[in-house]
Amino acid sequence: MAECGVTDLRTILEARLRAAFDTIEPGADPVLRPSEHADFQANGALPLAKRLGRQPRDLAERVVEAADLGGMCATVEVSGPGFVNIVLADSFIAGQIATLAADEHLGSEPAGEPLRVVVDYSAPNVAKEMHVGHLRSTVIGDALCRTLGHVGHDVVRENHVGDWGTNFGMLIEHLLDVGETEAIGELSVGDLDSFYKAARSSFDGDEEFQDRSRRRVVALQSGDAETLRLWHVLVAESVRYFAEVYEKLGVLLEPGDVVGESAYNHMLAGVVRDLDAAGLLVPSDGALCVFPPGFAGRDGEPLPLIVQKSDGGYGYAATDLASIRDRVTRLGARRMLYVVGSPQAQHLEMCFAVARLAGWLPDDVEAVHVAFGNVLGADHKMLKSRAGSTVKLVELLDEAVERASAAARERAGALAPEERSRVARALGIGAVKYADLSGDRTRDYVFDWDRMLAFDGNTAPYLQYAHARIRSVLRRVEAGPMPEPFAPVLGEPAERALALALLGFGEAVDAVVSTNAPTRLCTYLFDLATTFTSFYETCPILRAPDVGRRRSRLLLARVTADILELGLGLLGIEAPARM
Ligand code: ARG
Repeated sequence: MAECGVTDLRTILEARLRAAFDTIEPGADPVLRPSEHADFQANGALPLAKRLGRQPRDLAERVVEAADLGGMCATVEVSGPGFVNIVLADSFIAGQIATLAADEHLGSEPAGEPLRVVVDYSAPNVAKEMHVGHLRSTVIGDALCRTLGHVGHDVVRENHVGDWGTNFGMLIEHLLDVGETEAIGELSVGDLDSFYKAARSSFDGDEEFQDRSRRRVVALQSGDAETLRLWHVLVAESVRYFAEVYEKLGVLLEPGDVVGESAYNHMLAGVVRDLDAAGLLVPSDGALCVFPPGFAGRDGEPLPLIVQKSDGGYGYAATDLASIRDRVTRLGARRMLYVVGSPQAQHLEMCFAVARLAGWLPDDVEAVHVAFGNVLGADHKMLKSRAGSTVKLVELLDEAVERASAAARERAGALAPEERSRVARALGIGAVKYADLSGDRTRDYVFDWDRMLAFDGNTAPYLQYAHARIRSVLRRVEAGPMPEPFAPVLGEPAERALALALLGFGEAVDAVVSTNAPTRLCTYLFDLATTFTSFYETCPILRAPDVGRRRSRLLLARVTADILELGLGLLGIEAPARM
């Protein structure tokens, strides 16, 4: 896990405890955990005692004696069978808050080495509608790119668009049949699905069309100029449409991030040649395959990764192998994230395995499948539109904003219409994104408008509203800059609890980076917002009992708002200052 800046409480505490455990056995893990009875507890004495055949309480006593926690803690006590309970000193927490408040990264800056990370995400297919699976990939991938970039990694976004394959024969013939201008019109307004379906039905129902399509594939593969031009029309119109969806969604992806499957065409023959030279290629039913060890079918038979099909064409796997080589050599990737649905797990794991066998993916380069589950409708089946077809992504996003407009009218009626529509957009798009990010990404989730747009519960609108409410309190304080960061007074339990919650931001950001799970940040922000609510209920800010506490509470409120805004921003969600 990347180490965070000076303000990461847990890291400091852990390091000091580690030193104490080292006096008993070098390298022993303190097993530091949050505690119900104290702020933290170190449980490491138990496994250590077992290993050494000693009494856990004795070891825990020794840790307490040896630990140099100078000034950090109010009490450090052995409890139960050998836990070390740690209560932090208020003065220490307050001092950490002063440091945090002065830190523009709010405690989330890394000390670690920046890595080149390639993130493969979104990846829709040309002349095919983007579906909710692509939405999930886009939203999760974007949150990961933002968070990785924020902690200082060097992120390269790659949109591995499906822009090649035998389908293009039929798509080009269909384009010619409807006429180029007509086809461009259809594609530019995002009628990708009907275009694709019409092409498909001609192909299925018309032999002459099938023949033409097959000849067209050959022409495409042999680089016929006119065919390539027509192919390019399809790609360009689709990419233009994808860009519109990205714009609506407010994600970082740009047309320049598209590195489609076709970009690797020139490398495919080399993939086959080099796999062959390495002795990895096995002919099987006319196709050329690699059988990486460790992958077996249901009956235990080894599974092939098909690199070249029996008709000589290269498939999806060949392209992915080429892209791994490209990312490692040309881009210098040290880590590669593939934000792709769970059904492709085996495909990706096999590609990684073959790339390792071939020496294209060195041991010190990480390749991770960031898998995610399906999006389900209220009936718990794959999400479908009312008409039963695939849900069109733009329509979904428009509906989100429309539904949020009603809420915005109700809550933010006082705002100018323009600002109100910005708020509606932030709420609607934020709600869809947050619903995607907040759960365990590997599980399916049910797409539920009412739940995702609710102003209570673990939702974007709840967090956005909590943020805007704090900003409004801050606005009511006389104008002028906030006082320089200082160590706040932490007299009330609710003040102390809020301060501790604020100091956990760095750890939450780290957790997203180390587990590729934006949910870790969502959970943190939700806890922070609820902790703030309890604080606000018991600790009035503007009517605080004295000036010192008023200033302290203002500082805590300001840092809370800053963390909510930054944290939502890392998830790709806007936090309007008023609503
Ligand atoms: N275009 C593919 C699909 O729609 C996803 C590609 C994922 N990325 C990859 N490198 N295979 O299923």
